[in-house]
Amino acid sequence: MHVSGPSTERHTTFVPPVVIARVDQLRAGVGRPVRVRFWDYAVWLLEDGTVRVIDGTCGHIGGPLAGGAVQDGCVTCPWHGWAYDLATGERATALGRAPGVRAYLAWVKDGDVWADLPADPLARDPGPA
Ligand code: FES
Repeated sequence: MHVSGPSTERHTTFVPPVVIARVDQLRAGVGRPVRVRFWDYAVWLLEDGTVRVIDGTCGHIGGPLAGGAVQDGCVTCPWHGWAYDLATGERATALGRAPGVRAYLAWVKDGDVWADLPADPLARDPGPA
């Protein structure tokens, strides 16, 4: 059958989640840098047992976010102090929230830390500027 007009077919690519660490490799509140498909991420285990994954590079001038201190659910970049909410990636500023880095769904199963990461991080919407 031939159908004319705009295509309604959706082109989606399923990207399976990946294991990015073992939970026993993580210390609560201490970030761990992870590189997947040539992109840097940072992963944390929080005190309540949840895991968080955000982009590993600070939006200012590229500081390594995994090396930052965590307090009240935010990580502070070790280079110049920009802070990011670990749950959303938003930047926490004195005036409120601002666009930040991307945050990713992550969970623990059978001791593995899984994350839902893009197949090609550069091809995705860059997020809020
Ligand atoms: S590089 Fe992160 S605050 Fe400057």
